[in-house]
Amino acid sequence: MSNVRRTEHAFFSLEDDYVLDPVSLLQGIEPTPAAKAQIVALAVLTGERCEISHEDWSVLVSIPVDGWVSGDRYDPALIRGLLEKGLLLSDSSEPFFRELRERDETLTETAWHPYAGLYHFATRWSGIDIREDIDGDEDLAALTEAAVRELVAEHGFPPTELPHVRATETVSLPGRIRTEPIYRTLTERRTTRVFDLERPMALDDLDAVLRYVFGCHGYASRVEGVVCIKRTSPSGGGLHPITAYPIITNVEGVAPGVYHYNADDHSLALLSAMPAKETRELAAQFVCGQEYFATAHVSFVLAARFYRNHWKYRRHPRAYAGMLMEAGHLSQTLYLIAAELGLGAYVTIAINGADIETRLQLDGFDTGALAVCGCGPRASRASALEPKFTARRPAVTR
Ligand SMILES: Cc1cc2nc3c(=O)[nH]c(=O)nc-3n(C[C@H](O)[C@H](O)[C@H](O)COP(=O)(O)O)c2cc1C
Repeated sequence: MSNVRRTEHAFFSLEDDYVLDPVSLLQGIEPTPAAKAQIVALAVLTGERCEISHEDWSVLVSIPVDGWVSGDRYDPALIRGLLEKGLLLSDSSEPFFRELRERDETLTETAWHPYAGLYHFATRWSGIDIREDIDGDEDLAALTEAAVRELVAEHGFPPTELPHVRATETVSLPGRIRTEPIYRTLTERRTTRVFDLERPMALDDLDAVLRYVFGCHGYASRVEGVVCIKRTSPSGGGLHPITAYPIITNVEGVAPGVYHYNADDHSLALLSAMPAKETRELAAQFVCGQEYFATAHVSFVLAARFYRNHWKYRRHPRAYAGMLMEAGHLSQTLYLIAAELGLGAYVTIAINGADIETRLQLDGFDTGALAVCGCGPRASRASALEPKFTARRPAVTR
């Protein structure tokens, strides 16, 4: 048996277990909680939740995080179970255990805050595909409406759309309508769910999107070797940890496939060429089967190089939230540039992050997917999935 140590990247909680009494179940009586709660482990290294026994627990608490101990002292089956659950680490060369050990080292060395690591890795999706239960946009629109009606039936109405705070003094504002181009662009920004499959996106438009959303517009350095970059979106510490992987399906003069955008020389590095149909299917898998987004002419995987941010914000409790905000800023800038160019755009965080990382050959612990956004010429037909916004508030009876 090899040496073992405990990972620091795991969380434990107590969850009530329920005594399943078939007679009460048939009578509709709620099951009663068991006298003893169940210990549940959340292993950051695997992103999995698992139940552990009291024997597991007593072994775990006796094994240190900061030093190897011989596994021979313990029940081999119990130790193997904890190793497989990603709660213990082994110094063995077995590939799976080596992989977990490397993930553990990467998480520690790249200064992840423990809560951020737990949130990111325990909520990362793989293999989610809405197409399994849905047949086209009309069906999805009908199902979404039915789900909203069910929510209202079960939970009542949502909080009001705009909060109105009453006060003894209020200041009325002029509300001047602005006509300068930036205001027009802002009001034209909207999410598109039907892209034009017949019309390719102009290379000139892709060039503008890359340059003005993800491009580098300047450098600054106060300390030798530490370089901040200027983009059209803000970034904590000017570090800009997010890089874009364009999935190109239909851009004139650019072969369909998976690319990385090299902002330093404003070029596209082709990682994998494939037919447009396959590239579109890949994009669909990345966005959990949302085919209406996958028809975009180009989709961008927003991948964070976590340590670029963590280098400064070491084990910082707000660092991860900052990176999610930065993904939001980049996608809003994409929407605005797209609106300016007369293109449609989208963003989603409903992504199969784990699958994206595997496909892009990213080590998810060091570089990981946060969101996917995209753009392209809109189709002229309307989508059943796009809400119609009007200037008038719909009548509401509460
Ligand atoms: C974080 C985030 C996630 C989103 N995810 C989805 C999504 O998974 N699917 C979708 O159809 N729209 C998604 N949207 C788009 C919103 O549905 C859209 O912004 C909203 O309907 C308002 O429409 P508008 O963008 O045209 O103003 C997302 C937007 C944001 C900001």
